[in-house]
Formats: sequence, structure tokens, C-alpha cells
Amino acid sequence: MDKPPNSQDQGINVDVGGTPMVDGVEALGSDAGGKGQLRQLFDSAMQNNPYFAAGGGLMLLGTGLALAKSGMVRASRLLYRQMIIDLEIQSRDKSYSWFLSWMARHPQRISKHLSVRTSYLQHDNGSVSTKFSLVPGPGNHWIRYKGAFILIKRERSAKMVDLANGSPFETVTLTTLYRDRHLFTEILNEAKDIALKTNAGKTVIYTSFGPEWRKFGQPKAKRLLPSVILDKGIKEGILDDVHDFMNNGKWYSDRGIPYRRGYLLYGPPGSGKTSFIQALAGELDYNICILNLSENNLTDDRLNHLMNNMPERSILLLEDIDAAFNKRDQTGEQGFHSAVTFSGLLNALDGVTSSEETITFMTTNHPEKLDKAIMRPGRIDYKVFIGNATSYQVEKMFMKFYPGETKLCREFVAAVDNMGATVSTAQLQGLFVMNKDDPMNAIKMVTTMKTNEEFII
Ligand SMILES: Nc1ncnc2c1ncn2[C@@H]1O[C@H](COP(=O)(O)OP(=O)(O)OP(=O)(O)O)[C@@H](O)[C@H]1O
Ligand SMILES: *[C@@H]1O[C@H](CO)[C@@H](O)[C@H](O)[C@H]1NC(C)=O
Ligand SMILES: *[C@@H]1O[C@H](CO)[C@@H](O)[C@H](O)[C@H]1NC(C)=O
Ligand SMILES: *[C@@H]1O[C@H](CO)[C@@H](O)[C@H](O)[C@H]1NC(C)=O
Ligand SMILES: *[C@@H]1O[C@H](CO)[C@@H](O)[C@H](O)[C@H]1NC(C)=O
Ligand SMILES: [Mg+2]
Repeated sequence: MDKPPNSQDQGINVDVGGTPMVDGVEALGSDAGGKGQLRQLFDSAMQNNPYFAAGGGLMLLGTGLALAKSGMVRASRLLYRQMIIDLEIQSRDKSYSWFLSWMARHPQRISKHLSVRTSYLQHDNGSVSTKFSLVPGPGNHWIRYKGAFILIKRERSAKMVDLANGSPFETVTLTTLYRDRHLFTEILNEAKDIALKTNAGKTVIYTSFGPEWRKFGQPKAKRLLPSVILDKGIKEGILDDVHDFMNNGKWYSDRGIPYRRGYLLYGPPGSGKTSFIQALAGELDYNICILNLSENNLTDDRLNHLMNNMPERSILLLEDIDAAFNKRDQTGEQGFHSAVTFSGLLNALDGVTSSEETITFMTTNHPEKLDKAIMRPGRIDYKVFIGNATSYQVEKMFMKFYPGETKLCREFVAAVDNMGATVSTAQLQGLFVMNKDDPMNAIKMVTTMKTNEEFII
């Protein structure tokens, strides 16, 4: 584009003298107007002058040979390209870290450039141990996998930085023979299986970090569903509903309904709302994405972006949603800085357009503060009151902490019933934890739950 206007004339001059004759002729033929004169001159010279004609023939021959040669080079390159195949994995992709872990385990590798990765391992008894694994560093590595040689090239870009976590942008390229291309899928599957196995039995918790979801701490051991004691039928009801929802994806898509379902758990503090959602995630083998709506920097835009970009297989948990209802617009004056507006939350709930199912759990201690607009089906489809401990829960809790003590259990339940007030399950747990091996003392201390500030959670 930025050539001088007469660049084509210059091009012709060069072409007539040089080897790539064909191009020159083409350029001449396609020229019009003033350049027609040049063409006439050229044509007459070619036809009438035998020396020129002979020279032209030689030139054509030379061109032909040159063309044939470049054709051979191209053909061999094509053949080479057909015979080898490469696969690029970018650090942005999830399989990147899976692949590096796979490499760390792969014994038959020849590499001199290593880098270290530190991982934590949480044991079932809660203790954490640290493990160092050596993974291929930047550079070339050869491995032999199922009889095939694979060249692995890890490259780090000095200029590009992954804005999300500030680490340099990297790629790993695997190269192998075309006939072994199926190995790529095998390797990736193997890497994925290893990665998932290390997270098996764990719940990964994500929180928002800027516009991204980040893992929050180490994956936690799953909380088992039976360990959360809710009133009769509540757990089963929610679980049935979730299963029913998850098994009916086709039903939703056939009818063009957004494939999402919202649950609201409301009730006093310490009744097990959060614990139940965590246990449910473990039961479904899902991860949890927790959003704090009263976080200062959370704007409507970010909320919307986060809700539309959740990691797969995760439950969205919005805690204390009444926080977003304190005001309806973003310019708060009352010293309260929730940046998420009520309408922003509604739009985000409506706008989730994932093809995968979206399960949203919301909790609140103040259902009376919620606006009716959020109760609309599609935003909240299922709501459950999770209250203070009922006699049924008291009994179950007692039996969980003191297995086999049926007689004392009856005494304890009666004592709680006669107390004249209800207590939360968290308070019960507190009492039992204080009297780990002493159910008798727990019974004696029942009334302290009502008065003792220590138990108010
Ligand atoms: N129903 C329950 N069964 C078993 N443990 C419970 C139950 N309710 C509360 N707990 C225990 O009490 C503690 C607090 O419970 P949790 O955080 O789930 O309460 P919550 O309902 O989410 O409270 P908040 O409304 O304040 O968020 C946890 O340690 C949990 O183990
Ligand atoms: C926890 O278990 C691991 C292995 O299962 C063991 O090495 C570690 O010592 C244990 N820690 C505690 C505190 O019991
Ligand atoms: C949510 O954010 C607010 C404001 O930053 C903070 O006070 C509150 O403790 C947070 N809640 C949770 C559950 O993290
Ligand atoms: C909120 O944004 C300000 C500036 O935009 C930044 O300095 C601060 O660290 C952010 N806080 C959080 C919790 O992200
Ligand atoms: C639930 O228990 C708390 C104490 O944890 C008490 O203050 C509250 O009044 C109880 N709620 C009901 C509805 O009884
Ligand atoms: Mg909670």
C-alpha cells in the first residue's frame, strides 16, 4: 500500500532482467493503458529478433527448471508436514498444568532443563505435606511413549504475561510422527485422569479475584452429606430436585428454557446452610464458586462476567444476598459500599447463558429484606427454610457425637424441649465439642446454651 505509485514500472524493469520471467510477463499482460506501449515493444522484440527469441527460450527453460526445483522443495516440505504432526498447549489452557504433572511422572525422558513445582497434599487426618516435583523446564525434551518418540518443546514468552496471574505466557509443543498422532489424545487423557485423581474426594473452592475465578486455598476434603443434620426430608427434597434438574438437560433445551435453577436457603445463623451446600457439592462431585456480594470492588459488570465464566462442574454460591438489597443504585452514601446493585444482580441471574447447567445457591439470614423480584421463578425456583434445631435434629446430633447412648439421648432431647427456647445446630455442636466424652455433662449444660454468650454464634 505504501509503495510509490510507479512501483509497478520499476517492478517490470527488474523482472525483465531477472529470472522470475513468468511473473514479469503476467504483470505485463495485466497492465493496461500507458504500459501497453512497453508490452508492444517487448512483443515485437521477442518475435522479430532471433537473438532475443533464443535468449527468451533459454530464460524460459531456466525459469522452468527453477520452478521445478522449488516445486520439489515444496513437495518435500509438504511430505514432511504430512508425516509429522504437532500439538500446541498454551498455558492458558487447563490441560497445560495437567500435562506438566504428567511429564513429571513420566520416567523415560531425556532432559537437562528442569523446573520445580511444589504441591501440597492434604491427608485424610488433616495434615498437609509438601511435595516437590521436577517438571520439564523451558527447552527441548525427548520422551519415548508407547514406542514412539515425542519431542517436547516448552517455550516461555518474555514479552507476554498472563494478566490473570502475572506469570509469563508459555506454550508446550509436542511433535511426533503423523502415524502416532493418536498418542496425543492418549497422553492428554492420561494427564487428565492423574489430575482428577489428585482432586478426587476433594471439593475445590473458587473465589473471585478481579474478573477471574481463583482457587481458594487447597482443595478441601469433601464434607459428607450425612454429617449435616437438617430437619426431616429437607436434604432429600433438595437432593431430589437437584438430581431431577441435572438429568433433564434435554428437556430444557428442547423447550428453549435457560438451563439453570436457583435455590434459596434462608434462616437464622448457624443452622447449617453453608455446610449443607458444601456437602451437597461433595455429593454431586462439584466444585463451589463463592461470591461475596458485599465485596467492595464487585461491580455489576464483574458480577455478570464472573457468573458467565464459571469453571465447569461448579455450584455458584451467593452468600448473604440481602447485602445487595440495601440500596438499588450504585451510588451509595450511607457508608456502605456494596457496588453490586439490585438490578445488576437480577440481570446477572437472568443473563447466565451457559450451555451447561447452572446451579445457583443463595443464602440469607434476612429473607424479609429480599425484594419480590428475585423470588421470580428462573431466579429462585426452590426455597427452603433452614431453622433452629428441631427435636429430630437434636436427637440426630446427639447420636452422632455420642454413638450408642440412646438413653441419655432421650434425656437430652427432653432437656432441650423444656428449655423454652430453640437453639441453632451450631450451638448444639459447640456444646458437644466442649463435652467430647461426657454426655452427662452435656445434659447438665443444656440451659447454658440459652444464656451463655459463648454459644451465641
Ligand atoms: N445442621 C447442621 N448439621 C451439622 N452441623 C451443623 C449444622 N448446622 C450448623 N452446623 C455446624 O455449625 C457451624 C456453622 O454452620 P454453617 O456455617 O453451615 O451455618 P450457616 O447456616 O451457613 O450460618 P450463616 O447463616 O451464619 O452463614 C459449622 O461448623 C457446622 O458444622
Ligand atoms: C497424617 O497421615 C499421614 C499419612 O497418612 C502421616 O504421614 C501423618 O503423620 C499424619 N499426621 C498426623 C498429624 O497424624
Ligand atoms: C464480604 O465482604 C465484606 C466487605 O469486604 C466483608 O466485610 C465480609 O466479611 C465478607 N464476607 C465473607 C463471607 O467473606
Ligand atoms: C479495589 O480496587 C482498588 C482500586 O481500583 C484497589 O486498590 C484495591 O486493591 C481493590 N480491592 C480489592 C479487594 O480487590
Ligand atoms: C434460633 O436460635 C437463636 C439462638 O441461636 C435464637 O436467638 C433465635 O430466637 C431462635 N429463633 C427462633 C425462631 O426461635
Ligand atoms: Mg453461611
